Amino acid sequence: MIRGRGVELKNREQLRLMRQAGLVVAEVHAAVLAAAAPGVTTGELDQVARDVLARRGAGSSFLNYGAEWGQTPYPGVTCISVNEEVVHGIPGSRRLESGDLVSVDFGAYVDGWHGDAAITFGVGELAEADALLSEVTRDALWAGIGAARLNGRLGDISHAIEASVRAAPGRYGILADYTGHGIGSAMHQPPDVPNTGRAGRGLRLAEGLVLAVEPMVTRGSSIGVTLDDDWTVVTSDGSRAAHWEHTITMTRGGLWVLTSADGGEAELAARGLPFGPLAD
Ligand code: MF3
Ligand code: CO
Repeated sequence: MIRGRGVELKNREQLRLMRQAGLVVAEVHAAVLAAAAPGVTTGELDQVARDVLARRGAGSSFLNYGAEWGQTPYPGVTCISVNEEVVHGIPGSRRLESGDLVSVDFGAYVDGWHGDAAITFGVGELAEADALLSEVTRDALWAGIGAARLNGRLGDISHAIEASVRAAPGRYGILADYTGHGIGSAMHQPPDVPNTGRAGRGLRLAEGLVLAVEPMVTRGSSIGVTLDDDWTVVTSDGSRAAHWEHTITMTRGGLWVLTSADGGEAELAARGLPFGPLAD
């Protein structure tokens, strides 16, 4: 069912397929995290993701993305962004080193229905300030998720993300010009889900709406610069960045984090938020 500004509302069967895609995404993140170590290349991590996709019979949401619009087709199944790279880093021959701050963004589809999520982690010994940056970004993601409720507004999510980052001790930049998004029968759909905004404004949150919530936070500039490879976005001041993302939906029972292995149950419980999966 499609309603209002091209927003796609999913039925129960479609949500179940998106959960299947989300479970593949969670499995890939776990496998990539387990394989990441000093000396491993980002291309090798991309191959780990390809192996999971093949094993599960799922498709890549990222591979060749952009080709239909005449953009340089995206060449990987993951985006791996290291240190001052914020998002859309292309996996390749780069070898990870101890102290690197790495984000892995990954999307998969099952029967045409997509899931999209990103994690950030350190390789070997991570500087305290980088670990904090990742924590601040992850907290902002869960603050955004926790602000989503049926009959609430899109701006509630955006505001909660921004307020969470601003409340953290230290000065952080929220990457401008990049947002979360609706997701379903395509990876990117309306509405945009900005990482800054005002509560009580914007689209009313309805049953069947599925959103990718994804704060991108830096230890400095909020300006991103795209490199000559047409994809990699780095911070304009060379400061390090983190990116956390989940695909979520709201049910009458509460929240369902489609790209989390446990559906978000543990993290939601820890934050006093209602967990509302659909029955199988
Ligand atoms: N997963 C990214 C997002 O969250 C998009 C990846 S761009 C691609 O919006 F080209 F790799 F697909
Ligand atoms: Co996304």
